[in-house]
Amino acid sequence: MDLTTPPPDLYGRPGADRFMRRVTAFGDRYTPALGRPLLRRNPRRPPSRPTPPLHLVVTTHRAVATDIVELRLADPGGDPLPAWQPGAHIRLVLPSGRERHYSLCGDPADRAGYRIAVRRLPNGGGGSVEVHDELHVGARLTVRRPRNGFAFCGERAVLLLAGGIGITPLLPMAREARRLGLDWRLVHTGRSADTLPFTEELRALDPSRVELRTDQEHGVPTGAELLAHAPAGAAVYCCGPAPMLAAVRDALAAQPARALHFERFGAAPIQGGHPFTLRLGAQGPLLDVPADRSALDVARELRPDLPYSCHQGFCGTCKVRVLAGTPEHRDRRLTEQDRTAGDLLPCVSRAAEGETLVLDI
Ligand code: FES
Repeated sequence: MDLTTPPPDLYGRPGADRFMRRVTAFGDRYTPALGRPLLRRNPRRPPSRPTPPLHLVVTTHRAVATDIVELRLADPGGDPLPAWQPGAHIRLVLPSGRERHYSLCGDPADRAGYRIAVRRLPNGGGGSVEVHDELHVGARLTVRRPRNGFAFCGERAVLLLAGGIGITPLLPMAREARRLGLDWRLVHTGRSADTLPFTEELRALDPSRVELRTDQEHGVPTGAELLAHAPAGAAVYCCGPAPMLAAVRDALAAQPARALHFERFGAAPIQGGHPFTLRLGAQGPLLDVPADRSALDVARELRPDLPYSCHQGFCGTCKVRVLAGTPEHRDRRLTEQDRTAGDLLPCVSRAAEGETLVLDI
């Protein structure tokens, strides 16, 4: 997820949730007066622990469009699942050990199960194929709790733009927009009609506010064509492939009054990268990393088993230790302490031109 202005907390709560805003404001105002003395009295208070993962079972596995399956995950004992907000994702730990993020596309009011939809990517890293072929009904898996890096702020007017499977975080947003009585529109684009999941569900929300648009029928839309659906002064939420996001961003530059919130699939194009050298292990091979490729991509040519998930520097799955060299950190996850300790996220972080980075891989 990314925003035209970075979110205050990538994994934080929705910025526009009024209740949370008031709680935060109260905390900001009174914590200095109340909290510090308490903290001083308890200097050895342990740092907060990571929340334990969930152990869920697959209760539904069905095709909802060409190459797209929908899964429903539930607690085996029927307990309600942790709450979430539109835009949230969960991280699945697949049987192979791969970890993958998927947006929640069900109804946040439904605490009995999480719904996700996954597009099969035969030439991807293997995670989507594993979900399709191995997570049948009855399969059990570990799931990290919902996080939200693409929060829906509930502006008065919103335009939701989805490219293909990018509909998943936007479907709950459309439902929420309807519930809040917002002025909303949703445009769902894809190669052809058979590749668009949840079309009936979307139309059922409000057919007059939903536009389904296929490249086959209408051609690939320009950013301006997509933005033409926006109600006056609307905030734009966009989830789709990189070219779609780039087109919307460029077109939006001519309309600076609108906010843009977006989530992209996979890696962002590398900005301002320089070529450098990578060594895998203290005695390992030297690899050239060109300016337009990530260290992780290059390393995976020799070590395809290297783990990754978001490819955007926020999940931490690809974390490695730097053995030598000066890294250029570009992630949104590691603390200064982590970086000083030698951690690096090679899906986004790199090194200066001519530098050699030695990673403990
Ligand atoms: S793959 Fe998520 S931080 Fe690198």
